Amino acid sequence: MTGLAIEVERLVKRFGDLVAVDGLDLTVPTGTCLGLLGPNGAGKTTTVEILEGLQPATSGRVRVLGRTWTEDPDAIRARIGATLQETRFHEKLTVEETLTLFRSFYPRGHGVESALAQVALEDKRDARVGTLSGGQKQRLALAVGLVGDPELLFLDEPTTGLDPVSRRGLWTIIEGLKGRGRTVVLTTHYMEEAAVLCDDIVIVDHGRIVARGTPEALVHSLGGEQLVEFVARPAIPAEALERVPGFSGHRQRGETVSLSVQALHEAVPALLRIADEHRSELVRLSTRAATLDDVFLALTGRTLVEEEQG
Ligand SMILES: Nc1ncnc2c1ncn2[C@@H]1O[C@H](COP(=O)(O)OP(=O)(O)OP(=O)(O)O)[C@@H](O)[C@H]1O
Ligand SMILES: [Mg+2]
Repeated sequence: MTGLAIEVERLVKRFGDLVAVDGLDLTVPTGTCLGLLGPNGAGKTTTVEILEGLQPATSGRVRVLGRTWTEDPDAIRARIGATLQETRFHEKLTVEETLTLFRSFYPRGHGVESALAQVALEDKRDARVGTLSGGQKQRLALAVGLVGDPELLFLDEPTTGLDPVSRRGLWTIIEGLKGRGRTVVLTTHYMEEAAVLCDDIVIVDHGRIVARGTPEALVHSLGGEQLVEFVARPAIPAEALERVPGFSGHRQRGETVSLSVQALHEAVPALLRIADEHRSELVRLSTRAATLDDVFLALTGRTLVEEEQG
């Protein structure tokens, strides 16, 4: 099937006076992975839960797999899978019993075995859910999302709390789903993950889209694709830094200055000369390619790490 797995127009969700989703427009082509990024409280989970049929919208139009939640809820439910940001399963059931239960909600799908294998939880099949570690619970939640072999899978921060091996395992699962023409909607606070997995990215802040595009296009939109980060003592005046060839912006955090530039081989020698002119010593100097994190920072003025620290 080709076409659009998700169509959202002017979606609004209010909780009393609080506007959690503020006029969102979104389309997700079938067979692609959409990354929904944004700081805590941006409205990601609310949006995803409306798409999953778990919350009603205040206003706007939502079509999922060509259908609406008001007209065809059962038809949609049979074809989607979801891993919620916080999942509570019955603590007394075993892993296998939990999966068997969720499998029974779907008319078709993988066997329980296949779902267990995909998340590498075979050796915990008889363990009660209440005894699983945080990361194992998260993997069980993912298996629950996969057990109906969904055409459209929603993953709300699926890798938070996962060890690196399990995280890579999830990446492989998502790549496999896309390879089979399935659609994935992913929210994550890991920019690297979004850059690797997502065809399209939407960055939301205060319920509104502040940027969208492919990961490459978003990074490109910053202007400079390379960053030169340094600590200069004494500090170099900002006007002097603007003379660095290919300069497209600078940002300061504490003593560390970060310059966005086009080409390192031109920018770095120029920076060294400018430092010299100002009798300033570069006590630290490093370079790196700009990432989605930098896009996020440029757009919201916050880093995700700062967000997570409150
Ligand atoms: N049931 C609710 N009642 C009142 N306010 C709510 C409710 N659910 C969410 N909100 C508010 O709506 C806003 C968006 O919340 P949401 O959970 O969608 O954010 P998020 O982008 O998923 O954030 P996070 O990255 O922390 O998961 C927040 O300000 C939140 O406090
Ligand atoms: Mg959330």
